[in-house]
Parts: sequence; C-alpha cells; structure tokens
Amino acid sequence: MSVLDRSMIFAAANVAEKAAIAAYDWIGRGDKEAADQAAVDAMRTALNNLPMKGRIVIGEGERDEAPMLYIGEEVGTGEGLEIDIALDPLEGTTPTAKGMTNSLAVLAMAPRGGLLYAPDTYMDKIAVGAELPGGVVDLDNSIEDNLAALARAKDRPVSDLTVCVLERPRHQEIVARIRQVGARISFITDGDVAGVISTTDPKTGIDLYVGSGGAPEGVLAAAALRCVGGQMQGRLVFRNDDERARATRTGITDFGRKYGLHDLAGGEDIVFTATGVTSGSLVDGVRKSGNIAQTHTLLLSTMEDAWRRMRSRFHCE
Ligand code: FBP
Repeated sequence: MSVLDRSMIFAAANVAEKAAIAAYDWIGRGDKEAADQAAVDAMRTALNNLPMKGRIVIGEGERDEAPMLYIGEEVGTGEGLEIDIALDPLEGTTPTAKGMTNSLAVLAMAPRGGLLYAPDTYMDKIAVGAELPGGVVDLDNSIEDNLAALARAKDRPVSDLTVCVLERPRHQEIVARIRQVGARISFITDGDVAGVISTTDPKTGIDLYVGSGGAPEGVLAAAALRCVGGQMQGRLVFRNDDERARATRTGITDFGRKYGLHDLAGGEDIVFTATGVTSGSLVDGVRKSGNIAQTHTLLLSTMEDAWRRMRSRFHCE
C-alpha cells in the first residue's frame, strides 16, 4: 500500500513551480548565482509550508557551504510523514543565466530512506528507456558492446541509435568511440537530469544516455526513471581526497560501487516533479505576462502509471 498519496504529487509540483517562477526573473541576465538563490529561496519557503517531517538528502551542498537547503536540513511543518527530499531548485544555472534551453526546477520525494544520500561529486552514468531486456547495457561494458547489445534489443542497426552526451572535454574519448561505430550523438550543454529522462520518452529519439555528471543529478534522474520505467546505473567519480571525504561523510565505504536504479532511488513510493524554467525536451519554460505566470510541469510517481504534464497559472505579486 502506498504511504504517499496523490496530494503529495501536486504538493511537490507546487514547490517546483514556485522555484521556476522565481528563477524566471533571472533568465538571460548573466547572473547564475542570483538565479540559483532566487530558486532556492522560493523552494525552501514552499517546502516549509508542507505538512511533513521533511529532510533534505540531495540539496545545495553540505551545511557549512550552503546556508539553505543543505544536506540534512529539516523542512516542512514538522507534522506528518517522515519524507526524504532530493532537490535541485535550478538544474541548469548556466543555461538560465545565458537564456538558453533546458533548465528546470526539480524535486523528488520518498518516505524516509527511499533516496540515496549521495555526495556532491561526479557520477558515471548510463541509462536506457523502458521495455528492454534487463541488463541490456552495463557501466562495466565498453560503449561499443553496449551499443551493439542495444541495437540487437531494439532490432535496429547501431547507425540508427542516438546517444545523449553532456558536451564536455572529458567526454572526448567516448564521443570518438560512439562516432567510430556509427551511432548518432545528441549533445546537451547542461542538464543531465533531462538527458537521462529523455531515454524514456520516445518522442525525444534518444536511445542511450552515457557520461559523467553530478551525482546529485544522478539520484534525481533515477527517481524519475523509477516512476516511468527504464534502466540506469551510476558509479561515483572522485577527483581528489576532498571528494572522497565527502563520500565518507554520507556513509559511503565502497568507493567503487556500481549503483543500480534501486540503489539510487529505492523507495517503494517516489514522487518526481520538474518544472521548466527555460524550455527544453521535457517541458516548456515559464511564460510571464504582467502579473500572470504560466508554468509547465512534469509530474511522475510510482503510484501512478502515467506521464503527466500540467500547465498552471499563478498570480504573482
Ligand atoms: P548546475 O545547475 O549546478 O549548473 O548543473 C548543471 C549540470 O549540467 C548538471 O545537469 C550536470 O550533472 C552537471 O552540471 C555537470 O557538471 P559540469 O558542468 O561540471 O560538467
């Protein structure tokens, strides 16, 4: 039986909507810190109005470096269910500041213990959509083998597959190898939560997501995949001792562990919402006219078998 009810899906959506509207004022103004701060303030205020004993497990950083929505911060009214929250008030600070596509306000919730308490490091990620044989791709296999296996499972040639990759110098080698076997690449400049989710949405044409990005974003993307199906694996990447210390503080002892989808987002009940700040593959961005703001939000949950998108109108001050 579900512990979370449908009202929680809409409550979570409202939190993301408030953050997106706050970030809207900073689109294209070249100040990503201000955009992030506006989204953080709005998300925190909205979360603190929810009747729950909430605890941030994926947030803005550790307590000493993030004054708000830090990992471990308690949010909500303090009454009701014990809920763990993974959030990114502004997933895509750079595209927001530059007025580019694909930035989101993102939030996932699960009863306590349902989402991995991940450190703020990088994570190697691989993901595919639903309705494929279990284990069709694997982080431990070469990209060539993964593409060949995926092509067989989809009964299509490798040259017909499209791989989504975050455009970064660190991905040069994998990009060259993908091109070598003839698959297409769809680059994203930022926002790998949407990149991973795009594998599960046939209208995007993305067959596979690979590459490294933020570990917190990995948990958020896994929460979404738990709701709509799909497969994902992740492994933390450490660049220095500080990052290893961060992992230790979150209770991680096996630094080389390969996390499956249920390790990243294991809760039986999970809610995931993402509201567009600027338009992208998942949702449209905020539109504002006078004091009316219109939002577009993706609402997913393990309690419902549906891709739900919702448009809302708000009167702003
Ligand atoms: P921010 O919103 O924090 O700027 O993150 C955007 C993002 O593109 C994530 O989606 C991704 O996981 C991460 O940055 C990749 O990090 P980097 O820019 O260091 O490669």
